[in-house]
Amino acid sequence: MRGDDVDSWKEVNLIYNSALKEINTKLEILNDEFQHVHQYNPIEHIKSRIKRPESIVKKLKKHGYESTIENMVKYVNDIAGIRVICSFTSDIYRIAEMIINQNDIRVLSVKDYIMNPKPSGYKSYHLIVTVPIFLSDRIVDAKVEIQIRTVAMDFWATLEHKIHYKFEGNAPEDIKRELVECANMVSELDAKMLSLNEQIQEFASNQAALRQAAEQVAASEDVKAI
Ligand code: GTP
Ligand code: MG
Repeated sequence: MRGDDVDSWKEVNLIYNSALKEINTKLEILNDEFQHVHQYNPIEHIKSRIKRPESIVKKLKKHGYESTIENMVKYVNDIAGIRVICSFTSDIYRIAEMIINQNDIRVLSVKDYIMNPKPSGYKSYHLIVTVPIFLSDRIVDAKVEIQIRTVAMDFWATLEHKIHYKFEGNAPEDIKRELVECANMVSELDAKMLSLNEQIQEFASNQAALRQAAEQVAASEDVKAI
């Protein structure tokens, strides 16, 4: 790398790091507000990373582009990446919608691998967005890849990624088939957990209604006693 390139790379890094901070803050605010309004956290945790320069160069090469800073910014959409791990599948769509509706966010692409899983069995909701970064003398739009998935989907994707890596992308057919079966089990588990959560919430709201009714009866009896 030439001296100029090193400076440019440092600037690019600064911008993508700022973009990760902006999106992280947006997600934390949404999670806090949710806790305040609904007494529950849709986000279990958030992971973020900047893609390593070697991986960026590898990706550019794979797509036949020269390794320039300009090409990185233009063609590599996941230099800044955020993974949002939610409790339930319904939370994924809620979080995605809340991010998409923020008016400083521009959505470049949406991929719903939950409705349309990959042949590997992979499920997640992907957004490529831009967020404005306010520098001292200008505003730049930075791209961020947001992957939203449940804890169970994340468990599957993490292990599948390790296996994929071990076999250098050429896992034997029976292992691939078993991974797809595991992905189906993950979907079943997510569906069961969601329905269980709905039952629990219904139970809790019925209990609250009963408590309120009992309090009203007690209050009216108090009035009668006077
Ligand atoms: P990449 O070049 O890999 O970034 O893919 P893409 O530009 O076609 O985008 P896509 O939305 O398909 O995938 C983006 C990211 O999703 C990947 O970098 C992985 O983090 C994740 N991903 C996609 N497919 C799989 C899969 O089959 N298994 C696992 N574990 N992760 C996947
Ligand atoms: Mg990627």
